[in-house]
Amino acid sequence: MPKALMFLAMWALTMSATAEAVTAERQTELRNLVHQDCGSCHGMRLTGGLGPAITSRALQDKNHEFLFATISEGRHGTPMPPWRTLLTRQEIDWIVDYLKTVETQP
Ligand code: HEC
Repeated sequence: MPKALMFLAMWALTMSATAEAVTAERQTELRNLVHQDCGSCHGMRLTGGLGPAITSRALQDKNHEFLFATISEGRHGTPMPPWRTLLTRQEIDWIVDYLKTVETQP
């Protein structure tokens, strides 16, 4: 394989790997973001404030796609802002999974 092609292939591999995985370090940042940024409206313990409770119990009947869309696009006409410009799809997926299990966290 010519050198340039080899380099391109390596680059593509690295890029897709970083796009897919939410690293342990990033998970810590996202956890802080959920409790601080989201928490400023939903409560530090996510039990509600300006916005409704978003604990696993409160969200148990809502499916992943619905919650993903709410976080990604926000809710027009309400204070819930869109997060798609700040977070990747993988990160929003991670947050939805996190919210669904948050009551099992210490
Ligand atoms: C500026 C305040 C504000 C911030 C910041 C905010 N939200 Fe919201 N959020 C709201 C409000 C208000 C609603 C209710 C919207 C409605 O009336 O439908 C809401 C709704 C939601 C819902 C839907 C709940 C349900 O029962 O359908 C989810 C999930 C959610 N927010 C997650 C998040 C996450 C995750 C973050 C941080 C990444 C966040 N929110 C940040 C105000 C906020």
